[in-house]
Amino acid sequence: MMKIGTENREANFEALEAEARQGAAELTTAEAVENFRLAWLGRKQGRLKQLSEEWLQNAAADQKKLLGQRFNALKTLVESLLDEAVARSRNTGWSDEALRVERLDVTLPGTRRLIGAEHPITRTMNELVAIFAGLGYSVGVGPEVESDFYNFECMNFPPGHPARDTQDTLVIAGQERRSQRDRLLLRTHTSPVQMRTMEQQPPPVRIVIPGKVHRNDAADATHSPVFHQVEGLCVDVGITFSDLKGTLDYAMKALFGSSVKTRFFPSFFPFTEPSADVQISCIFCAGRGCRRCKQSGWIELLGCGMVDPAVFAFAAEKQPAYDASRISGFAFGMGVERIAMMKYGVSEIGQFFAGDMRFLDQFVG
Ligand code: PHE
Repeated sequence: MMKIGTENREANFEALEAEARQGAAELTTAEAVENFRLAWLGRKQGRLKQLSEEWLQNAAADQKKLLGQRFNALKTLVESLLDEAVARSRNTGWSDEALRVERLDVTLPGTRRLIGAEHPITRTMNELVAIFAGLGYSVGVGPEVESDFYNFECMNFPPGHPARDTQDTLVIAGQERRSQRDRLLLRTHTSPVQMRTMEQQPPPVRIVIPGKVHRNDAADATHSPVFHQVEGLCVDVGITFSDLKGTLDYAMKALFGSSVKTRFFPSFFPFTEPSADVQISCIFCAGRGCRRCKQSGWIELLGCGMVDPAVFAFAAEKQPAYDASRISGFAFGMGVERIAMMKYGVSEIGQFFAGDMRFLDQFVG
């Protein structure tokens, strides 16, 4: 540090100012700026503090005014040098590399945040569930790995029924050697949840069961080894086929629009008697006949029927109130993919499972 003599204080001030300017010019980092500030303006050890103690206070009375002015000028200079250095240090510390890498083009469009969406299958299932919830149905679930007993036997599939063949049913690996009745398999329909529900609660029952099912089917445009169903079961005193027709006609109108018509054809399912297939008037041509309905004006959409007394007999083993002489009921089951394909105009069932964002993006919003 420069020794401050008492003889030529004017010259000393000039030297001090030069020293401050030079020191400030060398400041490149925030840390150096702070050290410079402490060295000059620090309250205890700062140069200006020293100066005021060493010679302002000891100055002869006639010199005090002039020295005071010079002192203040020096202080103002140091402060403004500091301000400049602070401003500069904010912009330094950026290497050329950092400037290149971190350069920000504020004219670029912002990053688009991807917003998730309900999968069209989930959306269709939720829609169906909501329709039946509005009719007083509650939601039931059951396991996807199911026993042969629940999937087939208690649903009145006689032993040796073709649907039990391994070509339709995917048996869990290692279960093949067990007796057929004890085998675990991937459920081929949601109907086993009918029995699981009845075993848990006496009638009345109004339940809708959305779920995933599996069949050993070769994949093509309309078949997939994994797909989804929505099952329904309604059991109470005095339930009739008219109730079934009215319920499904209402549900199809709620799903596809009030102009949709339904018609019922005799069919067969082991667990319903009588059984029916339900067709709806073609939603693409309003029944006039087109490629989608093979010119018939009708599209087959679901299976249904009155619960077979043999099914109630199994339920009555755990819940005696399922006495087929006192109660009756109907059940229905529909394929969700088929409905979603119609609603959203999808021509390949595989699209639902491919996870292709270009397909799924269409369902955002
Ligand atoms: N479980 C049948 C199927 O998968 C559908 C169905 C359910 C039929 C309930 C009648 C009653 O094909």
